[in-house]
Amino acid sequence: MTQRYKELYRPQFHFSPEEKWMNDPNGMVFFNDEYHLFYQYHPYGTTWGPMHWGHAVSKDMIHWEHLPIALFPDELGAVFSGSAVVDWNNTTGFFDKNQPGLVAIYTSAGTYPESDRPLQQQSLAYSKDNGRTWVKYQGNPVLSNVSITDYRDPKVFWHEETQKWVMVLATGQTITIYTSLNLKEWEFASEFGHTAGSHDGVWECPDLFALPIDGKVKWVMIVSIGDNGKTAEGSRTQYFIGQFDGTTFINDYADTTVLWLDYGRDNYAGVCWSDIQDGRRIYLGWMSNWRYANQVPTEVWRSAMTLPRELSLAATEDGVRLFQKPVAEVCTIRKEMKIYTNEASTIPLTFSLMEINIEFEKGSSNQFGFVINHAEEEKTVIGYNVLEEKLFVDRTKSGDNSFSTSFPAIQEAPMKLNHQRLKLQVFVDTSSVEVFANDGEIAITSLLFPSEGSKELLLFSHEGTTKVLNLTLTELNSIWK
Ligand code: FRU
Repeated sequence: MTQRYKELYRPQFHFSPEEKWMNDPNGMVFFNDEYHLFYQYHPYGTTWGPMHWGHAVSKDMIHWEHLPIALFPDELGAVFSGSAVVDWNNTTGFFDKNQPGLVAIYTSAGTYPESDRPLQQQSLAYSKDNGRTWVKYQGNPVLSNVSITDYRDPKVFWHEETQKWVMVLATGQTITIYTSLNLKEWEFASEFGHTAGSHDGVWECPDLFALPIDGKVKWVMIVSIGDNGKTAEGSRTQYFIGQFDGTTFINDYADTTVLWLDYGRDNYAGVCWSDIQDGRRIYLGWMSNWRYANQVPTEVWRSAMTLPRELSLAATEDGVRLFQKPVAEVCTIRKEMKIYTNEASTIPLTFSLMEINIEFEKGSSNQFGFVINHAEEEKTVIGYNVLEEKLFVDRTKSGDNSFSTSFPAIQEAPMKLNHQRLKLQVFVDTSSVEVFANDGEIAITSLLFPSEGSKELLLFSHEGTTKVLNLTLTELNSIWK
Protein backbone atom coordinates (compact mmCIF):
# COMPACT_ATOMS: atom_id res chain seq x y z
CA MET A 1 0.00 0.00 0.00
CA THR A 2 1.25 3.43 -0.84
CA GLN A 3 2.08 5.53 2.17
CA ARG A 4 -0.51 8.18 3.06
CA TYR A 5 0.14 11.51 1.35
CA LYS A 6 2.54 9.88 -1.10
CA GLU A 7 -0.16 8.62 -3.45
CA LEU A 8 -0.23 9.55 -7.12
CA TYR A 9 -1.59 13.12 -7.57
CA ARG A 10 -1.67 13.79 -3.81
CA PRO A 11 -1.26 17.55 -3.21
CA GLN A 12 1.80 18.19 -1.07
CA PHE A 13 1.18 21.71 0.21
CA HIS A 14 -2.58 22.01 -0.14
CA PHE A 15 -5.04 20.72 2.40
CA SER A 16 -6.72 17.43 1.51
CA PRO A 17 -8.49 14.93 3.78
CA GLU A 18 -6.56 11.80 4.70
CA GLU A 19 -9.13 9.79 2.82
CA LYS A 20 -12.58 9.94 1.23
CA TRP A 21 -14.59 12.75 -0.32
CA MET A 22 -14.37 16.46 0.54
CA ASN A 23 -16.06 19.56 -0.90
CA ASP A 24 -16.68 23.09 0.45
CA PRO A 25 -14.68 24.66 3.28
CA ASN A 26 -17.02 25.30 6.22
CA GLY A 27 -17.03 26.97 9.63
CA MET A 28 -13.66 28.65 9.18
CA VAL A 29 -12.92 30.53 12.37
CA PHE A 30 -9.86 31.66 14.32
CA PHE A 31 -10.06 31.06 18.06
CA ASN A 32 -7.50 30.60 20.86
CA ASP A 33 -4.53 30.67 18.49
CA GLU A 34 -5.95 28.09 16.12
CA TYR A 35 -7.35 28.34 12.62
CA HIS A 36 -10.23 25.92 12.27
CA LEU A 37 -11.16 24.39 8.98
CA PHE A 38 -14.31 22.32 8.77
CA TYR A 39 -15.33 20.90 5.43
CA GLN A 40 -18.09 19.06 3.62
CA TYR A 41 -17.13 15.44 4.11
CA HIS A 42 -18.42 12.03 3.10
CA PRO A 43 -16.57 9.55 5.32
CA TYR A 44 -17.90 6.43 3.58
CA GLY A 45 -16.93 7.09 0.00
CA THR A 46 -14.81 8.99 -2.49
CA THR A 47 -17.83 10.57 -4.15
CA TRP A 48 -20.37 13.03 -2.74
CA GLY A 49 -22.76 11.48 -0.22
CA PRO A 50 -24.46 12.19 3.12
CA MET A 51 -22.64 15.25 4.35
CA HIS A 52 -20.74 15.56 7.62
CA TRP A 53 -18.37 18.31 8.75
CA GLY A 54 -14.77 17.08 8.70
CA HIS A 55 -12.36 19.06 10.86
CA ALA A 56 -8.72 20.17 10.93
CA VAL A 57 -6.79 22.83 12.84
CA SER A 58 -3.69 24.82 12.05
CA LYS A 59 -1.42 27.45 13.54
CA ASP A 60 -0.57 28.96 10.16
CA MET A 61 -3.30 27.86 7.66
CA ILE A 62 -0.60 25.89 5.81
CA HIS A 63 0.23 22.92 8.09
CA TRP A 64 -2.84 21.03 9.28
CA GLU A 65 -3.68 18.57 12.00
CA HIS A 66 -6.61 16.31 11.23
CA LEU A 67 -9.25 15.97 13.94
CA PRO A 68 -12.26 13.65 14.24
CA ILE A 69 -15.48 14.45 12.38
CA ALA A 70 -17.20 17.40 14.07
CA LEU A 71 -20.81 17.20 12.93
CA PHE A 72 -22.85 14.17 11.88
CA PRO A 73 -26.21 13.98 10.11
CA ASP A 74 -29.25 13.81 12.41
CA GLU A 75 -33.03 13.61 12.17
CA LEU A 76 -33.10 17.01 10.43
CA GLY A 77 -30.86 15.70 7.70
CA ALA A 78 -27.29 15.91 6.47
CA VAL A 79 -24.98 18.74 7.50
CA PHE A 80 -24.50 21.06 4.54
CA SER A 81 -22.27 24.12 4.32
CA GLY A 82 -22.22 26.91 6.86
CA SER A 83 -20.03 29.06 9.05
CA ALA A 84 -18.78 29.39 12.63
CA VAL A 85 -18.33 32.41 14.88
CA VAL A 86 -16.95 33.14 18.31
CA ASP A 87 -19.83 34.20 20.54
CA TRP A 88 -17.66 36.65 22.50
CA ASN A 89 -20.53 38.10 24.53
CA ASN A 90 -22.51 34.92 25.06
CA THR A 91 -25.46 36.27 23.09
CA THR A 92 -26.74 32.70 22.77
CA GLY A 93 -26.53 31.86 26.45
CA PHE A 94 -24.76 28.61 25.48
CA PHE A 95 -21.60 29.46 27.38
CA ASP A 96 -20.38 29.98 30.91
CA LYS A 97 -19.46 33.37 32.24
CA ASN A 98 -16.26 34.80 30.73
CA GLN A 99 -15.72 31.63 28.68
CA PRO A 100 -16.71 32.43 25.10
CA GLY A 101 -17.07 29.52 22.71
CA LEU A 102 -17.78 28.60 19.11
CA VAL A 103 -21.16 28.48 17.41
CA ALA A 104 -21.61 26.75 14.06
CA ILE A 105 -24.50 27.81 11.83
CA TYR A 106 -25.14 25.25 9.11
CA THR A 107 -27.79 23.92 6.79
CA SER A 108 -29.72 20.84 7.85
CA ALA A 109 -30.45 19.22 4.52
CA GLY A 110 -33.34 16.84 4.98
CA THR A 111 -36.64 15.97 3.42
CA TYR A 112 -40.26 16.68 4.26
CA PRO A 113 -41.78 14.11 6.60
CA GLU A 114 -42.85 11.03 4.68
CA SER A 115 -41.66 12.30 1.33
CA ASP A 116 -38.40 12.74 -0.50
CA ARG A 117 -38.93 16.41 -1.28
CA PRO A 118 -35.82 18.31 -0.13
CA LEU A 119 -36.13 20.59 2.87
CA GLN A 120 -33.21 22.85 3.79
CA GLN A 121 -33.24 24.64 7.14
CA GLN A 122 -30.64 26.42 9.24
CA SER A 123 -29.38 24.92 12.50
CA LEU A 124 -26.91 25.65 15.30
CA ALA A 125 -24.30 23.63 17.17
CA TYR A 126 -21.92 24.92 19.82
CA SER A 127 -18.61 23.94 21.32
CA LYS A 128 -17.08 24.83 24.69
CA ASP A 129 -13.79 23.04 24.05
CA ASN A 130 -12.18 24.75 21.07
CA GLY A 131 -14.23 22.90 18.51
CA ARG A 132 -13.25 19.42 19.73
CA THR A 133 -16.81 18.40 20.63
CA TRP A 134 -20.12 19.89 19.56
CA VAL A 135 -23.63 19.98 20.96
CA LYS A 136 -26.52 20.51 18.59
CA TYR A 137 -28.97 23.18 19.77
CA GLN A 138 -32.23 21.68 20.99
CA GLY A 139 -34.27 24.36 19.28
CA ASN A 140 -33.05 23.43 15.78
CA PRO A 141 -33.89 24.41 13.13
CA VAL A 142 -33.58 28.13 13.83
CA LEU A 143 -34.58 29.30 10.36
CA SER A 144 -36.92 27.69 7.81
CA ASN A 145 -38.80 28.77 4.74
CA VAL A 146 -40.85 26.03 3.19
CA SER A 147 -41.40 27.91 -0.05
CA ILE A 148 -37.73 27.99 -1.10
CA THR A 149 -36.07 24.72 -2.13
CA ASP A 150 -32.47 25.94 -2.38
CA TYR A 151 -32.11 27.60 1.00
CA ARG A 152 -28.64 27.10 2.35
CA ASP A 153 -25.05 27.90 3.27
CA PRO A 154 -25.46 30.51 6.06
CA LYS A 155 -22.47 32.81 6.58
CA VAL A 156 -22.77 34.79 9.80
CA PHE A 157 -20.82 37.73 11.21
CA TRP A 158 -21.20 40.31 13.97
CA HIS A 159 -22.06 43.78 12.63
CA GLU A 160 -20.53 46.20 15.11
CA GLU A 161 -22.43 49.34 14.02
CA THR A 162 -25.90 47.86 14.49
CA GLN A 163 -24.85 45.44 17.27
CA LYS A 164 -26.46 42.52 15.49
CA TRP A 165 -25.55 39.22 13.93
CA VAL A 166 -25.97 39.26 10.17
CA MET A 167 -26.57 36.15 8.08
CA VAL A 168 -26.20 35.95 4.32
CA LEU A 169 -28.02 32.93 2.95
CA ALA A 170 -28.24 31.52 -0.58
CA THR A 171 -31.91 31.48 -1.54
CA GLY A 172 -32.28 30.08 -5.06
CA GLN A 173 -31.10 32.84 -7.37
CA THR A 174 -30.66 35.51 -4.70
CA ILE A 175 -28.92 36.15 -1.39
CA THR A 176 -31.22 36.86 1.54
CA ILE A 177 -29.94 38.82 4.51
CA TYR A 178 -31.26 38.10 8.01
CA THR A 179 -30.34 39.68 11.35
CA SER A 180 -30.40 38.40 14.91
CA LEU A 181 -29.50 39.37 18.47
CA ASN A 182 -28.85 35.84 19.69
CA LEU A 183 -28.26 33.58 16.65
CA LYS A 184 -31.45 31.73 17.56
CA GLU A 185 -34.14 34.10 16.32
CA TRP A 186 -33.70 35.56 12.86
CA GLU A 187 -35.46 38.42 11.17
CA PHE A 188 -35.66 39.03 7.43
CA ALA A 189 -33.67 42.16 6.47
CA SER A 190 -33.42 42.27 2.67
CA GLU A 191 -32.86 40.29 -0.49
CA PHE A 192 -30.16 40.94 -3.07
CA GLY A 193 -29.45 39.92 -6.61
CA HIS A 194 -32.61 39.11 -8.62
CA THR A 195 -31.14 40.81 -11.65
CA ALA A 196 -27.50 41.37 -10.64
CA GLY A 197 -24.48 39.47 -11.88
CA SER A 198 -24.47 35.99 -13.37
CA HIS A 199 -27.44 33.67 -12.95
CA ASP A 200 -25.94 30.79 -14.89
CA GLY A 201 -26.57 28.42 -12.00
CA VAL A 202 -28.04 28.17 -8.50
CA TRP A 203 -26.54 30.68 -6.04
CA GLU A 204 -24.57 29.06 -3.23
CA CYS A 205 -22.08 29.76 -0.45
CA PRO A 206 -22.27 33.55 0.01
CA ASP A 207 -19.95 35.68 2.09
CA LEU A 208 -20.14 39.39 2.96
CA PHE A 209 -17.36 41.45 4.53
CA ALA A 210 -15.81 44.90 4.61
CA LEU A 211 -12.44 45.83 3.14
CA PRO A 212 -10.66 49.19 3.25
CA ILE A 213 -9.87 51.21 0.16
CA ASP A 214 -8.59 54.81 0.03
CA GLY A 215 -9.42 55.45 3.66
CA LYS A 216 -13.01 54.27 3.13
CA VAL A 217 -14.79 50.98 3.54
CA LYS A 218 -16.43 48.94 0.82
CA TRP A 219 -18.36 45.72 1.22
CA VAL A 220 -17.67 42.63 -0.85
CA MET A 221 -20.27 39.96 -1.45
CA ILE A 222 -19.01 36.63 -2.74
CA VAL A 223 -21.50 34.29 -4.45
CA SER A 224 -20.70 30.90 -5.91
CA ILE A 225 -22.86 29.73 -8.79
CA GLY A 226 -23.51 26.07 -9.38
CA ASP A 227 -22.89 24.08 -12.54
CA ASN A 228 -25.79 24.32 -14.96
CA GLY A 229 -24.33 21.69 -17.28
CA LYS A 230 -24.29 24.19 -20.15
CA THR A 231 -21.51 26.77 -19.87
CA ALA A 232 -17.99 25.45 -20.39
CA GLU A 233 -16.81 26.74 -17.01
CA GLY A 234 -19.03 24.57 -14.83
CA SER A 235 -19.34 25.90 -11.27
CA ARG A 236 -17.60 29.20 -10.54
CA THR A 237 -17.57 32.16 -8.21
CA GLN A 238 -18.53 35.80 -8.72
CA TYR A 239 -18.37 38.80 -6.42
CA PHE A 240 -20.01 42.18 -5.98
CA ILE A 241 -18.61 45.39 -4.50
CA GLY A 242 -20.91 47.83 -2.74
CA GLN A 243 -22.30 49.29 0.45
CA PHE A 244 -23.88 47.60 3.43
CA ASP A 245 -25.62 49.30 6.35
CA GLY A 246 -26.45 46.27 8.47
CA THR A 247 -29.66 45.63 6.52
CA THR A 248 -29.24 46.11 2.79
CA PHE A 249 -26.43 45.47 0.34
CA ILE A 250 -26.26 47.96 -2.55
CA ASN A 251 -24.18 47.01 -5.57
CA ASP A 252 -21.82 49.77 -6.77
CA TYR A 253 -21.90 48.41 -10.31
CA ALA A 254 -24.56 47.91 -12.93
CA ASP A 255 -26.49 44.65 -12.79
CA THR A 256 -24.87 43.60 -16.04
CA THR A 257 -21.36 43.74 -14.58
CA VAL A 258 -20.10 40.28 -13.70
CA LEU A 259 -16.91 40.11 -11.65
CA TRP A 260 -15.24 36.71 -11.47
CA LEU A 261 -13.17 35.82 -8.45
CA ASP A 262 -10.98 33.37 -10.35
CA TYR A 263 -10.61 32.60 -14.05
CA GLY A 264 -9.51 29.01 -13.50
CA ARG A 265 -11.95 26.12 -13.37
CA ASP A 266 -11.03 24.99 -9.89
CA ASN A 267 -11.87 27.46 -7.20
CA TYR A 268 -15.39 27.07 -5.86
CA ALA A 269 -17.52 27.59 -2.75
CA GLY A 270 -14.83 29.69 -1.10
CA VAL A 271 -15.47 31.95 1.89
CA CYS A 272 -13.37 33.76 4.50
CA TRP A 273 -12.27 33.01 8.05
CA SER A 274 -14.21 34.63 10.90
CA ASP A 275 -12.66 36.37 13.87
CA ILE A 276 -9.11 36.75 12.59
CA GLN A 277 -7.80 39.39 14.95
CA ASP A 278 -5.00 40.97 12.90
CA GLY A 279 -7.32 42.65 10.41
CA ARG A 280 -6.62 40.32 7.49
CA ARG A 281 -9.47 38.93 5.38
CA ILE A 282 -8.44 35.43 4.37
CA TYR A 283 -10.21 33.29 1.82
CA LEU A 284 -10.09 29.57 1.09
CA GLY A 285 -11.79 27.80 -1.81
CA TRP A 286 -12.52 24.22 -2.76
CA MET A 287 -10.10 23.39 -5.56
CA SER A 288 -12.48 21.53 -7.83
CA ASN A 289 -15.52 21.93 -10.05
CA TRP A 290 -18.90 20.23 -9.81
CA ARG A 291 -18.62 19.44 -13.52
CA TYR A 292 -16.09 16.68 -12.82
CA ALA A 293 -15.33 16.72 -9.08
CA ASN A 294 -16.72 13.19 -8.63
CA GLN A 295 -14.62 11.82 -11.48
CA VAL A 296 -11.12 13.24 -10.93
CA PRO A 297 -8.61 10.37 -11.06
CA THR A 298 -7.57 10.16 -7.41
CA GLU A 299 -8.14 6.97 -5.48
CA VAL A 300 -7.94 7.21 -1.72
CA TRP A 301 -9.28 10.74 -1.34
CA ARG A 302 -11.04 13.30 -3.52
CA SER A 303 -10.41 17.03 -3.59
CA ALA A 304 -8.13 19.61 -2.01
CA MET A 305 -8.49 23.25 -0.97
CA THR A 306 -6.79 26.23 -2.64
CA LEU A 307 -3.98 27.99 -0.84
CA PRO A 308 -5.39 30.43 1.73
CA ARG A 309 -5.46 33.88 0.14
CA GLU A 310 -5.42 37.34 1.64
CA LEU A 311 -7.99 39.58 -0.01
CA SER A 312 -7.77 43.32 -0.63
CA LEU A 313 -9.40 45.95 -2.81
CA ALA A 314 -7.52 48.12 -5.28
CA ALA A 315 -8.44 50.57 -8.01
CA THR A 316 -7.82 49.46 -11.59
CA GLU A 317 -8.55 51.11 -14.95
CA ASP A 318 -11.91 49.37 -14.92
CA GLY A 319 -12.85 50.30 -11.36
CA VAL A 320 -12.30 48.79 -7.92
CA ARG A 321 -11.47 45.08 -7.99
CA LEU A 322 -10.81 42.29 -5.50
CA PHE A 323 -7.15 41.25 -5.35
CA GLN A 324 -5.90 38.01 -3.84
CA LYS A 325 -2.48 36.82 -2.75
CA PRO A 326 -1.37 33.66 -0.97
CA VAL A 327 -1.06 34.39 2.75
CA ALA A 328 2.35 35.47 4.07
CA GLU A 329 2.52 32.15 5.96
CA VAL A 330 3.47 30.34 2.74
CA CYS A 331 7.01 31.35 3.74
CA THR A 332 6.90 28.37 6.13
CA ILE A 333 7.20 25.96 3.20
CA ARG A 334 9.78 27.86 1.15
CA LYS A 335 13.15 26.17 0.80
CA GLU A 336 16.00 27.34 -1.33
CA MET A 337 15.41 30.08 -3.90
CA LYS A 338 17.26 30.07 -7.21
CA ILE A 339 17.68 33.28 -9.15
CA TYR A 340 18.07 33.05 -12.91
CA THR A 341 19.91 35.85 -14.61
CA ASN A 342 21.13 34.30 -17.85
CA GLU A 343 19.12 34.17 -21.03
CA ALA A 344 18.74 30.40 -21.16
CA SER A 345 15.25 29.49 -22.23
CA THR A 346 15.32 25.91 -20.98
CA ILE A 347 15.65 25.41 -17.28
CA PRO A 348 16.03 21.86 -15.96
CA LEU A 349 14.26 21.44 -12.63
CA THR A 350 15.72 19.63 -9.67
CA PHE A 351 12.47 19.91 -7.71
CA SER A 352 8.84 19.80 -8.74
CA LEU A 353 6.99 21.45 -5.84
CA MET A 354 7.71 25.09 -6.45
CA GLU A 355 6.87 28.73 -6.56
CA ILE A 356 7.76 30.55 -9.75
CA ASN A 357 8.12 34.32 -9.71
CA ILE A 358 8.66 35.82 -13.11
CA GLU A 359 8.32 39.24 -14.67
CA PHE A 360 8.10 39.81 -18.41
CA GLU A 361 8.36 43.01 -20.37
CA LYS A 362 6.49 43.00 -23.65
CA GLY A 363 8.61 43.34 -26.78
CA SER A 364 7.60 42.58 -30.36
CA SER A 365 6.18 39.13 -29.60
CA ASN A 366 2.45 38.48 -29.76
CA GLN A 367 2.49 35.63 -27.25
CA PHE A 368 4.90 34.84 -24.46
CA GLY A 369 5.14 32.81 -21.29
CA PHE A 370 6.48 29.46 -20.20
CA VAL A 371 5.81 25.78 -20.45
CA ILE A 372 6.11 23.42 -17.51
CA ASN A 373 7.20 20.05 -18.83
CA HIS A 374 6.02 17.29 -16.54
CA ALA A 375 6.51 13.87 -18.10
CA GLU A 376 7.13 13.07 -21.76
CA GLU A 377 4.24 14.59 -23.78
CA GLU A 378 2.78 16.17 -20.66
CA LYS A 379 3.00 19.91 -20.33
CA THR A 380 1.16 22.92 -18.96
CA VAL A 381 1.42 26.25 -20.73
CA ILE A 382 1.09 29.55 -18.87
CA GLY A 383 1.22 32.61 -21.06
CA TYR A 384 -0.05 35.95 -22.26
CA ASN A 385 -1.73 36.66 -25.58
CA VAL A 386 -0.80 40.23 -26.51
CA LEU A 387 -3.34 40.75 -29.28
CA GLU A 388 -6.28 39.46 -27.27
CA GLU A 389 -4.95 40.88 -23.99
CA LYS A 390 -5.51 37.58 -22.20
CA LEU A 391 -3.63 35.60 -19.61
CA PHE A 392 -4.04 31.86 -20.06
CA VAL A 393 -3.36 28.49 -18.51
CA ASP A 394 -3.55 25.65 -21.00
CA ARG A 395 -4.01 22.22 -19.43
CA THR A 396 -5.15 20.41 -22.55
CA LYS A 397 -1.94 18.34 -22.54
CA SER A 398 -1.10 18.41 -18.84
CA GLY A 399 -1.77 14.75 -18.09
CA ASP A 400 -4.80 12.54 -17.49
CA ASN A 401 -7.82 14.16 -19.16
CA SER A 402 -9.75 11.01 -19.81
CA PHE A 403 -12.25 11.20 -16.94
CA SER A 404 -14.32 14.12 -18.29
CA THR A 405 -14.68 15.81 -21.67
CA SER A 406 -15.05 19.10 -19.78
CA PHE A 407 -11.63 18.82 -18.19
CA PRO A 408 -9.20 19.65 -21.03
CA ALA A 409 -9.32 23.44 -21.23
CA ILE A 410 -7.51 26.64 -21.99
CA GLN A 411 -8.45 28.90 -19.09
CA GLU A 412 -8.33 32.56 -20.00
CA ALA A 413 -8.58 35.85 -18.15
CA PRO A 414 -8.95 39.24 -19.82
CA MET A 415 -6.10 41.34 -18.45
CA LYS A 416 -4.14 44.42 -19.45
CA LEU A 417 -0.39 44.58 -19.01
CA ASN A 418 0.83 46.93 -16.34
CA HIS A 419 3.20 49.46 -18.01
CA GLN A 420 3.95 46.75 -20.60
CA ARG A 421 4.81 44.30 -17.85
CA LEU A 422 3.39 41.02 -16.64
CA LYS A 423 4.29 39.77 -13.20
CA LEU A 424 3.36 36.20 -12.32
CA GLN A 425 3.51 34.29 -9.07
CA VAL A 426 2.77 30.62 -9.69
CA PHE A 427 2.44 27.77 -7.21
CA VAL A 428 3.00 24.34 -8.68
CA ASP A 429 1.84 21.36 -6.62
CA THR A 430 1.58 17.72 -7.66
CA SER A 431 -1.83 18.18 -9.25
CA SER A 432 -2.53 21.90 -9.47
CA VAL A 433 -1.24 25.30 -10.47
CA GLU A 434 -2.34 28.59 -8.96
CA VAL A 435 -1.41 31.64 -10.99
CA PHE A 436 -1.53 35.15 -9.52
CA ALA A 437 -0.94 37.94 -12.02
CA ASN A 438 0.03 41.55 -11.46
CA ASP A 439 0.13 41.37 -7.68
CA GLY A 440 -3.08 39.42 -7.33
CA GLU A 441 -5.31 41.30 -9.75
CA ILE A 442 -6.07 38.07 -11.60
CA ALA A 443 -6.09 34.50 -10.29
CA ILE A 444 -6.27 31.31 -12.34
CA THR A 445 -6.58 28.13 -10.28
CA SER A 446 -6.36 24.89 -12.19
CA LEU A 447 -6.17 21.20 -11.43
CA LEU A 448 -3.91 19.03 -13.58
CA PHE A 449 -3.07 15.35 -13.44
CA PRO A 450 0.43 14.80 -14.82
CA SER A 451 1.84 11.31 -14.31
CA GLU A 452 5.12 12.68 -12.91
CA GLY A 453 6.52 15.77 -11.25
CA SER A 454 7.73 18.78 -13.26
CA LYS A 455 11.07 18.28 -15.01
CA GLU A 456 11.75 21.42 -17.00
CA LEU A 457 10.70 25.00 -17.54
CA LEU A 458 10.71 26.37 -21.07
CA LEU A 459 10.41 30.10 -21.69
CA PHE A 460 8.81 31.08 -25.00
CA SER A 461 8.24 34.18 -27.04
CA HIS A 462 6.34 33.67 -30.32
CA GLU A 463 7.17 35.69 -33.40
CA GLY A 464 9.26 38.33 -31.74
CA THR A 465 11.03 39.24 -28.56
CA THR A 466 10.03 39.44 -24.90
CA LYS A 467 12.29 40.43 -22.06
CA VAL A 468 12.40 38.42 -18.86
CA LEU A 469 13.15 41.03 -16.21
CA ASN A 470 13.54 38.54 -13.41
CA LEU A 471 12.93 34.91 -12.64
CA THR A 472 13.22 33.02 -9.39
CA LEU A 473 12.28 29.46 -8.57
CA THR A 474 11.72 28.47 -4.98
CA GLU A 475 11.53 24.89 -3.91
CA LEU A 476 8.57 24.19 -1.62
CA ASN A 477 8.29 21.64 1.16
CA SER A 478 5.54 19.14 1.63
CA ILE A 479 3.30 19.97 4.61
CA TRP A 480 2.70 16.28 5.36
CA LYS A 481 5.06 14.18 7.43
C1 FRU B 1 -21.65 23.96 -2.81
C2 FRU B 1 -22.73 23.11 -2.20
C3 FRU B 1 -23.47 23.88 -1.13
C4 FRU B 1 -24.01 22.81 -0.23
C5 FRU B 1 -22.89 21.79 -0.27
C6 FRU B 1 -23.37 20.38 -0.15
O1 FRU B 1 -20.59 23.25 -3.36
O2 FRU B 1 -23.61 22.65 -3.21
O3 FRU B 1 -24.46 24.75 -1.65
O4 FRU B 1 -24.27 23.26 1.06
O5 FRU B 1 -22.22 21.98 -1.49
O6 FRU B 1 -22.30 19.51 0.02
